[in-house]
Amino acid sequence: MPRPHIILHMISSVNGKILTAPWRTSRAWQAAEAGFDPVYRSFATDGWVCGRVTMEQDFADEAPELLPPTAPVSRDHFIGDPQASTFAVAIDPGGKLGWTGNAIEGDHLIEVLSEQVTDAYLHYLQRRRISYLICGRDTVDLAAAMQRLAELFPIRTLLLQGGGYLNGSMFNLGLVDEVSLMLLPVADSHPGHTALETGTRTTLPRVSDLQLVSMQRMDGGVVWLRYR
Ligand SMILES: NC(=O)c1ccc[n+]([C@@H]2O[C@H](COP(=O)([O-])OP(=O)(O)OC[C@H]3O[C@@H](n4cnc5c(N)ncnc54)[C@H](OP(=O)(O)O)[C@@H]3O)[C@@H](O)[C@H]2O)c1
Repeated sequence: MPRPHIILHMISSVNGKILTAPWRTSRAWQAAEAGFDPVYRSFATDGWVCGRVTMEQDFADEAPELLPPTAPVSRDHFIGDPQASTFAVAIDPGGKLGWTGNAIEGDHLIEVLSEQVTDAYLHYLQRRRISYLICGRDTVDLAAAMQRLAELFPIRTLLLQGGGYLNGSMFNLGLVDEVSLMLLPVADSHPGHTALETGTRTTLPRVSDLQLVSMQRMDGGVVWLRYR
C-alpha cells in the first residue's frame, strides 16, 4: 500500500531552532508574519500531521474525559466522519490529547495511537467522533501508520508540521519527500529549545542529500527554500 506524499514545512531561525515564541517581537517576525499563511495555504495538501507536544501546545483544548466503556471498544480503527475530505493528524502514542470537537478549522481529527492506549481513551474518541488508528506496540510505527492513513482516508499528500521530535523520526525513516523551509533572519541561542529535526532514540540518524528546487526572497528578509 503506498503512503502519502509527505512535505515537511517549517519556519526556522538561521540556526535551526523552531520554537517561534521568543521571536514574535522581533522586527523580522513582524515584517514576515503576513507571508506565512499564504505559503501554508499554497500547499493544498489533504491534511497535516503534528507530534503530541505540538498538538498539546497549539491545538488540543481540554483534558480528555475518561469514562469506563459500556461495551467492547474496537482496537482496529474508527472513522468518526466518513464525509471528511481534509484531515489533522495527531501522533499521540499513549492517548493524552483532549479535544472539544472532532475537527481543527474544518480539518477532521485523526488520532494515531500505539497499543498502549487505554480502552477508556478510545471510548472518549468515539464519543467525540474523532477517528483513530492503532499502529505499533510501545510507540507509534510511523511507516505503517502513514500507509494506514492512505488506506483508510483520502490522504494522498500530507504536510508534516513538527515538532522537531516527529520531524526527526519521519526523516530518519525516509518518510519525508520534500522539505519546505522558511528561514527567518533571527539567530536564537536559547539552550534546549527544539530544533528542526531533533531525531529520536528509536530511529537511526540519517544524512540525506537534498536537491534544491526553488528559492524565494520574501518580506522581512525571509528566504523560502524548497528541496526534494
Ligand atoms: N517553527 C515551526 O514551524 C514549528 C512547527 C511545529 C512545532 N513547532 C514547535 O515544536 C515544539 C514541539 O516539538 P517537540 O519536538 O518537543 O515535540 P513534537 O514532535 O511536537 O511531539 C513529540 C511527541 O510526539 C509523539 N511522537 C513523535 N514522534 C513519535 C514517534 N516516532 N513515535 C511515537 N510517538 C512519537 C511523542 O508523544 P508522547 O510524548 O506522548 O509519547 C513525542 O513525545 C513546540 O514548542 C512547537 O512550538 C514549531
